[in-house]
Amino acid sequence: MNLVVLTGAGVSAESGVPTFRASDGLWEGHRIEAVATPEGFAADPALVQDFYNQRRRRLGDVQPNAAHRALADLAARWDGGFLLVTQNVDDLHDRAHAEVAPAKRFELIHMHGELLKARCTASGVVSDWPGDLLADHPSPHHPGGRMRPHIVWFGEIPLEMERIEAALERCDLFLSIGTSGAVYPAAGFVQSARMAGARTVEINLEPTPGARLFDEGVYGPATQVLPPFLASL
Ligand code: NAD
Ligand code: APR
Repeated sequence: MNLVVLTGAGVSAESGVPTFRASDGLWEGHRIEAVATPEGFAADPALVQDFYNQRRRRLGDVQPNAAHRALADLAARWDGGFLLVTQNVDDLHDRAHAEVAPAKRFELIHMHGELLKARCTASGVVSDWPGDLLADHPSPHHPGGRMRPHIVWFGEIPLEMERIEAALERCDLFLSIGTSGAVYPAAGFVQSARMAGARTVEINLEPTPGARLFDEGVYGPATQVLPPFLASL
């Protein structure tokens, strides 16, 4: 059986990473356009680099939770196709997998990029980047290039869409976990999965505005409801 799992900020909320659209959300008083668009970066690179520098530093203080670990367990024991697509730019799925099943290959796509990577604006080369980025950070990869966060901003194309769409086309079961379904194209994955004939399940604190698109809903904190639900598969 082919499984596609989509996760959002809610899966990391109980690790202490705030979600985007909660009242104390991640935008922290910034206009989204100021810190999460190419235009915002062009207008004030220092503000944007600092916003992501702070988020990158905070990753050192958080740990994967029981929901990340339950997904890593599932990936390790799943017989059929398995693809985990996350909208999260943290590395908590990666760390959970490294803890739970380091020897087992794990198909994980960070469709909105990764906080711990940076990209050269001139060559497109992506490299690991655990530290801060300067406002006008020179690129080690290309003369004249500079390094920007490896984050998909509004107006940019999410990563690995062809691979995701191919997996959705042959999926039998689609799980959407801890995402508000407010941002496309991820918000449309449930429709693609339905067209493929998949069983669709939403797992969230509460029903989202798109809840009726799912065959089933499992509601409660992810660390509590996800482990028993995944164990039942
Ligand atoms: P948008 O309307 O601004 O742009 C979407 C872009 O994706 C367009 O360029 C469109 O051509 C392209 N696109 C849409 N569907 C596609 C598909 N199936 N295959 C390939 N490309 C496709 O979109 P938006 O939804 O407002 O945001 C764009 C992306 O930026 C989203 O993925 C969003 O989550 C992401 N984002 C990330 C952060 C962050 O900090 N992590 C912040 C803001 C936005
Ligand atoms: N357990 C389960 N679900 C939870 C929990 C929890 N402990 N806490 C919060 N949630 C749910 C909320 O009910 C909400 O539906 O997680 C969802 C988080 O939604 P958003 O903050 O909108 O985050 P997300 O869906 O990941 O945002 C998508 O938008 O801003 C862009 O690129 C950014 O990747 C992000 C995308």
